[in-house]
Amino acid sequence: MRIDIITVVPDLLKSPFEASIMKRSIEKGLVEVHLHNLRDYTTDNYKQVDDYQFGGGAGMVMMIEPIDKCITQLKSERDYDEVIYMTPDGETLSQTVANQISLQENIIILCGHYKGVDQRVRDHFITREISIGDYVLSGGELGALILCDAVIRLIPGVLGNETSALTDSFQDNLLAPPIYTRPADYKGWKVPEVLTSGNFPKIEQWREEQAYLRTQERRPDLLEE
Ligand code: ADE
Repeated sequence: MRIDIITVVPDLLKSPFEASIMKRSIEKGLVEVHLHNLRDYTTDNYKQVDDYQFGGGAGMVMMIEPIDKCITQLKSERDYDEVIYMTPDGETLSQTVANQISLQENIIILCGHYKGVDQRVRDHFITREISIGDYVLSGGELGALILCDAVIRLIPGVLGNETSALTDSFQDNLLAPPIYTRPADYKGWKVPEVLTSGNFPKIEQWREEQAYLRTQERRPDLLEE
């Protein structure tokens, strides 16, 4: 998968791709991430990417021209499956959305700033708009990172144990069951006996029950879906 991210603050995006799972996915050749500084696509001396709103009002708007230049340049080099705009009024990111995007080959992610982008960008270039939740960030960059993390870990081969993404919370609309590791008894706090019984059908049944109970208690809305 190739991910091209368009931003006015590339510095905010660098280091998360240089650590942990996202770094390893790149080293394994499973993912390519390219950061594009929108200011490199401006033509004026000030490298201006935003301007005042038509009709008046507080806050600057990201201009269409540099965004057009950047997206058009990228599209001339390869086909893209999706051009995503990070925005608080987009569809809320969910495991279902992450699963869908993880199947794509090439995607562009545009990070909004200021009041957002000129509506014509959304009308003519964007194929999907994603929000990471009902709160407003100062830019789309942190949302883009969350989207990338959620998507990259689903790409086959990225996680060491192939099955571990399949047993995450939200796959199958259930939260994950409780998990334990050694020691089996810590200060008298014991691991449920079934987990050390070696009876794997029984363990599987216990996990399913616990996942259901936890979902019923914490997120009954998931069971209604
Ligand atoms: N940009 C600003 N707020 C955002 C949000 N909640 N999700 C995605 N992008 C954003």
